[in-house]
Amino acid sequence: MPLDVVIGAQWGDEGKGRIVDRLAASADVVARVAGGDNAGHTIHAGGRVLRLHLIPSGILHPHTLCLLGACMVVSLETLVEEIRALQAQGIEIGPARLKLSHAAHLLTPAHRALDAAQEGARGGGEIGTTRRGIGPAYADKAARRGLRAESMSDPQAFARQVEDHTRQAGEWLSAVYHTQAPDPGQAGAAFGEYAEFLRPYLADVGALTGRSLAEGKTVLAEGAQGTLLDLDHGTYPFVTASTPTLAGALAGLGVGATHLRRVVGVAKSFQTRVGAGPFPTELFGQEAQRLRGTGTQAWDEFGTTTGRPRRCGWLDLVLLRYADRINGFTELALTKLDVLAGLEMIPVCAAYELDGRLQTTIDEGLTALDAAQPVYEAQAGWDPSVREARHWDDLPRAAREYIERIENTTGTPVALISVGAERQALVERGVAA
Ligand code: IMP
Repeated sequence: MPLDVVIGAQWGDEGKGRIVDRLAASADVVARVAGGDNAGHTIHAGGRVLRLHLIPSGILHPHTLCLLGACMVVSLETLVEEIRALQAQGIEIGPARLKLSHAAHLLTPAHRALDAAQEGARGGGEIGTTRRGIGPAYADKAARRGLRAESMSDPQAFARQVEDHTRQAGEWLSAVYHTQAPDPGQAGAAFGEYAEFLRPYLADVGALTGRSLAEGKTVLAEGAQGTLLDLDHGTYPFVTASTPTLAGALAGLGVGATHLRRVVGVAKSFQTRVGAGPFPTELFGQEAQRLRGTGTQAWDEFGTTTGRPRRCGWLDLVLLRYADRINGFTELALTKLDVLAGLEMIPVCAAYELDGRLQTTIDEGLTALDAAQPVYEAQAGWDPSVREARHWDDLPRAAREYIERIENTTGTPVALISVGAERQALVERGVAA
């Protein structure tokens, strides 16, 4: 009864979708566990590029049961759109294949309006949220006035609830932010229709997961965002409002840790971030552009959800070790190794200089990052493209040494290496699944 979990080891956008896509091939159940449509997974399959924000990327494997877990905040509009878009592509998806946790919270147009208004009111101190309403939806959940998915079982009562919620949010929006709110009647009517459509998808995801594990099925939890965006352990306040770590995955699934088999931390071969907040190894100008790409390719460093150019920098091993500690990775998956080809020398951040001391771990919380000066070690670069590599020995020696440097620092094996955008562009080392 194995449970495998895929977690972002950096600030999100690590390329988890394609690692999940690979692992989902041998999973029976695939689940999204936390966050909402602030996430975006790009999957390249059979010449098609699919962008999913809510539905687990495991949906592309026809044998999987897909779950949306309890710790998610779900935009019904996005969910209905994604279901219809997938159906239009000929992907079989319906209540027998997709289940939404009755305990998941719902995200409304009022939450999105609040997110935008709150960001606007922060002046120069914006978090740089995706403006999808994530923070306000989780705030309502914590304040115990949220809308839970289970309310959809009575669409008419639910429509009234959404109307009340929108009216209350509107009072707040106009009194505090002097902003116009979405129309309560319209929101209620739209949500009543979504409820009619989505009612058959409701389920107790914890019970389903527990039963699947008891039957010996393989469950794969697909994390969204990344460890450094964690509400508690990330670069607060420049974080998302959920728990994108292993702990959050277990909470979202509603099962215990005893089932765990693999905890795969996904890290990019370099580092990116969208939105504001500290980023010690950040690069600017042409150096950043070299890693980011120009936006002409789907895999260039521009947000899947917002289209924003991502901030780019060198790999930070201090932060990777921090993420490893929080999640207890059994292995790492390294993505976008191909982007580094052609660089003569690749700096990796091995330590920080902080208050005149050299630190290889973070022992004072991430607020210390503001003052941290990265100390780089140079790894030799390699010239040939690695895009055709499928086995460890196909990689140039310098690329193998780069990966071994990561393993030696974290003490965690790198089991999967993505070397290109296509589904099959992966090097696997000793992966059991
Ligand atoms: P929110 O989740 O929209 O509230 O945004 C909070 C912070 O998390 C912002 O810096 C966002 O850019 C960042 N963020 C949220 N979701 C993602 C993601 O899927 N990838 C990368 N960054 C994200």
